Formats: sequence, structure tokens, C-alpha cells
Amino acid sequence: MSAFYVTTPIYYVNGEPHAGHAYTTIVADALARYHRLKGNDVFFLTGVDEHGANIHKAAEDAGLAPQDYCDKMAPIFIELWKRLNISHDIFMRTTSDMHKRGAEKFLTALYDSGDVYKGSYEGHYCRPCERFVPEKELTDEKICPIHKLPLEWLEEENYFFRLSKYQDRLLEHFHENPDFVYPAARRNELLSVLDSGLEDISISRSSVSWGISLPFDPEHIVYVWIEALMNYMTALGYEIDSDQYHTFWPADVHIMAKDITRFHALIWPAMLMATHLPLPKQVVAHGWLTKDGEALSKTRGIAIDMDTDIETYGLDAFRYYLLREFSFGNDGDYRPARLHARYNADLANDLGNLLNRVLGLVNKNFESIPEPTTFGEFDDEITAMAQTTVAKLDEHINSFAFDTALETVWEFVRRINRYVQQTQVWTLAKLETKSRMGTILYNSLEALRFISVLISPFIPDTAEKIQKQIGLAEFDAVAEWGRLPVGLAVGRGEPIFPRIDIKKQKQKQPKESTQPKQKEANLVAFADFQKLDLRVARILSAKPIEGADRLLKLEVDLGTEKRQMVAGIAEHYKPETLAGRQVIVVANLEPATIRGVESHGMVLAGSGDSVVLATLETEMPLGTQIR
Ligand code: MSP
Repeated sequence: MSAFYVTTPIYYVNGEPHAGHAYTTIVADALARYHRLKGNDVFFLTGVDEHGANIHKAAEDAGLAPQDYCDKMAPIFIELWKRLNISHDIFMRTTSDMHKRGAEKFLTALYDSGDVYKGSYEGHYCRPCERFVPEKELTDEKICPIHKLPLEWLEEENYFFRLSKYQDRLLEHFHENPDFVYPAARRNELLSVLDSGLEDISISRSSVSWGISLPFDPEHIVYVWIEALMNYMTALGYEIDSDQYHTFWPADVHIMAKDITRFHALIWPAMLMATHLPLPKQVVAHGWLTKDGEALSKTRGIAIDMDTDIETYGLDAFRYYLLREFSFGNDGDYRPARLHARYNADLANDLGNLLNRVLGLVNKNFESIPEPTTFGEFDDEITAMAQTTVAKLDEHINSFAFDTALETVWEFVRRINRYVQQTQVWTLAKLETKSRMGTILYNSLEALRFISVLISPFIPDTAEKIQKQIGLAEFDAVAEWGRLPVGLAVGRGEPIFPRIDIKKQKQKQPKESTQPKQKEANLVAFADFQKLDLRVARILSAKPIEGADRLLKLEVDLGTEKRQMVAGIAEHYKPETLAGRQVIVVANLEPATIRGVESHGMVLAGSGDSVVLATLETEMPLGTQIR
């Protein structure tokens, strides 16, 4: 048994949690549950970040003292995590005494390292980010590149951390640990930040009063980001040097979205280097969850109505959709129509119907789970596939490919459906074939038990429901074939994913999603077309690729992110004519390496005798979806 420590970011309490926070937390939950299933000793942290000017302001706006405001907000997060079946071991609050004392101990150690000095600071400050925006990121309009809001000019006396001193050691660490930051796009982003040079950072604020005082100069409050990062250690009892701290630190994986990797993969490790403490093993970032291609935003009213979807489809369908539909490192657009499609196809049809069908046949033909005695065609293939599914699942989870991990399990689900079909098990009730029928049904039930174990980290309620229906009194979490006892009285086969009321659905779904599928060749179902994520983007730069006359390497801006794409347009466009052009791209195409160059998406073009880039009649905001 090995220790496994996984964390989510601690979320700011100046707003209520939304589907974006839910996504990160569900991902971390799935990972924590998966490691528990493997028998690891897991510690799973989530929590809230309660200090700083933004929280102070939100409290003032609410007419509350900051602590009262935090005491009101923290339970809203706790309540949501309960509703989403999150299995955290600690809900961290940065206003807790344990955190305050731990943070003071860490700050003292940081000060003692000699890498903290006093200086003055002036610059363009973004309040929502709580950071000075570096010159390099400044535009002429002086707006925050993340929040798109005007920056304030701020002058302060601050304490600084000598981040610049750790540049080389960080680079070395990145090179020696290629998986330290995952996925590669984020790693490369940070490597280029490192290449362009790190500046020292201010770690205190004298203009802020809601926070923790620096132990070496109580006039100053520690910068909320510096304080927040320490929570990952203070939560374990760093302050008292507890056993728990020694068991779980360093963290195995810090999970987050791509917005905050710099803090986690550059500043946090440098702070740990300065204090001679071990670094987290991995910093892993997923993409943005968007709505109609746009970033979620309270002020702009762009939100995902997860409550309605959970109410309609159930929590597990929501969890399944998030984990199965989105490719982990990339942005993903939340679409209720896709959740509906996944519910019907994967959950109700593939899995739910299989369980029902098998239970129905057992109930009709046997008193209880029959003994497998007559082995035949396909049996060995099924048992072998069960084991390879376990191995493949492990591989995918270790690379955070939750979508392929679930697809792997569903390949097995569909194989069992085929097994039932191929063996025509319902025709074997005659005396001479009944024992064969019993064996096939036993195998199918054991496969369902096996499947329930494998899906339990992702959709735990469903896993339990399946085992209950099979007749197991207690959840059997072991993925070894043949553990299903003979003689259990199975359930009557209540549908685990009942049909969703169509009338209710019609009001909610776009008309297209309830249309029958086109069967003719060459026609694509609307649901399949919808899988394509076509977006408006702008080419930022274009370069030839050595040894590939037809190809250009493009840097493309999708509004929410920049991507590299390879396009076969070199014979028709000169690279220098391309920068600034709007194009249409397939944003969710599987990444590929073309002539040694990574391509994350595809630029669309009319291609016949000549090749002409596809564009819209007039320009539209970057990231706009094409439908
Ligand atoms: N308090 C800091 C984190 C400190 S960690 C030591 C913070 N808080 S936050 O409330 O802004 O949360 C940011 C995180 O919320 C993202 O990194 C991500 O995990 C999650 N998300 C917020 N919006 C999201 C989406 N739209 N999509 C995906 N994740 C989202 O930063």
C-alpha cells in the first residue's frame, strides 16, 4: 500500500461554486477513489481560500465581517461537494488555526532562508487576480489578460521572494522530471516562461488587512497566493511535524485548470526549494469548461445549469458526462444535448439494458445465480478481456485520460452485450442446454460485477446499485474474475437509468437531439456532427516546416487559448501573409504529430485545384462556435 495525496485548488469564497469548480473536484474525486480502489492510502484535499482583498470586498458588499462572510460561504461549497458525492478527506479552510500556525511556520522558514527581502513595488495590478501583471503581459489598453478588466496602478512597500534565484534549479527540475507538469502543452508554456527569465515576486501586501501577518513584520499581510499554496502542507499538520505530514508530503498530484499552473509549478516549487522541502510530484492541469464556447462568467451571465441537469439525469450521469466527454487537457464545451445523448447511449442502453436483460433471464430461468459448469465459445475471451480492461484502465488513469479510461470499460460493457447476443442465451432454456445457459448468465453477471468495480471511482452510486441488484449484500471492490458467489437471489431489475420523460425533455433539448438517427450511408447523425467543435480563430504566426514543402506550422488564437496547428497550405499561402487572418478550426481534433511537429487541431480550407482558407463573411469574436 502506498500513500497517495491528491489536491484540488482551494477555491475563493467570493462567489458560489459553479460547474467549473465541480469539474476539477469531480476529476480529483475520481482519482482519489481510483487509488483507494487500488488499495492505496489516500488523502484527498479540497477546500476554500478565504483571505485577501477580494474576499474582504465581497464581505463588505454583503454587509458582513470578513470572518462571518467566510463562515457563510464555506458551507455552500461543503454542501455542493456532498451533493456531488465528493469523497475528500479534508475540507481545508485558510481561516483555520491549523493553517494560520502552519503558514507562520513556513513563512519564518522562508525568511530564514535568506531569500526574502524588503523593497518597494509599483505596477499594474489586477484585483480579481490579486497580482501585479508583469510588463511582458501588458497590452496598450492596460487590461488584465485573464479578466479583460482595466488594471490599477499600485505602489507599495513589499517583501519579495527571490524567485529569480531558482530559475536554473527549476529548469533542471523540469528537465529531470518530464512529467512534473502535465500535459505537455502546459509544460511547454512554463518552460518558455522559465526561458524568458523569472522576476522576484512580492509576497506581502501592506494595503490589505484581511489575511495572515508576516511573523517577521506584522505590519504586512502575506500575499494571498503565497499563503494559499502553503495550505497543501498545513492541512497535513506541517506545523506540528505530524505523522500524517510525513506520510503524505510531498503531494502526488495537484489538480487544477490551466489558469494557475504558474503558481503551482514555478512559485510553489521555488518556495519549497528555498525551505529545503520536497516538491510535489506532479502538477496537472485540465482545460476550461465553457458554455457555448465562452468562458463561464458571473458578470456576463455565462453559466452552466448543473442543478437542472443533475435533477433530470441524476448525479452519476453528470459525473459520467464530464469525465467521459471531455479530453482532459483541452477546453470542453458543456452541452446538455451531449449529456442527453451519453445518458441514452452509454448509460441507459449499453449498461442499464444489459443489467436488466441478464437479471430478467436469471429470474425467469433460475432460482438464484446459477453455477457455471458448462464452458464454451467466447468464455475465455471474456475473462481475458476483463483482465486487460483493468490494465488498460490503469494506464489511462495514470495519464489522466479519463475519457479513454471510461471508453475502455465501455468496450467491455459492449462486448458483454455482444456475448449475450452471440450465444443467443435466451434460447438455451431447454433441459439439454440449460447448464450452458447458466454458465453464460453467471459470466454475464460476474462481468457486470467486474464492471461495477471498475466504474466505482467515477460513478460510485451506480456501481453500488448494480451490485445490490446482483444480490451482493456488501460492495465487493475486487477486480478479480470469479468472485461472484453462486446462489445469490438477484434483484428484479429496476432500471438503473430509467427513460427520461420525453415531454419534459422536449422543452429542454434542442429539437435536433430527439430526431431519429439517419440510417442511410454517408449521412451523419446530428449528434455525431455535434461532436465536432468548430471555432473561429486567428492565425498569429506561420512558419515553414523543414523538409515538408506542403506544410506550415501555425500558431492560432482560439480566444481562450493559443494552439499550434499544422496545415497543408504552404503551396498556396506565403507564411508572411497569414498572420492576423481569421480562420475556422476543428478545435477538438485528436492531437497528432505531423513530420515531427505537434498539431492540436485543424484549420479548414476549401481544397480542390487550389486551396482557400475557410472564413466567415465578417469577423466574429475568437472562439465563436460554428454550427
Ligand atoms: N484560490 C485560488 C487557488 C489557490 S490554490 C492554492 C483560485 N481559486 S478559484 O476559485 O479561482 O479557482 C480556480 C480553479 O477553479 C481553476 O484552477 C479550476 O480548477 C476551477 N475552475 C474555475 N472555473 C473553471 C472552468 N470554467 N473550467 C474548469 N475549471 C474551472 O484560483
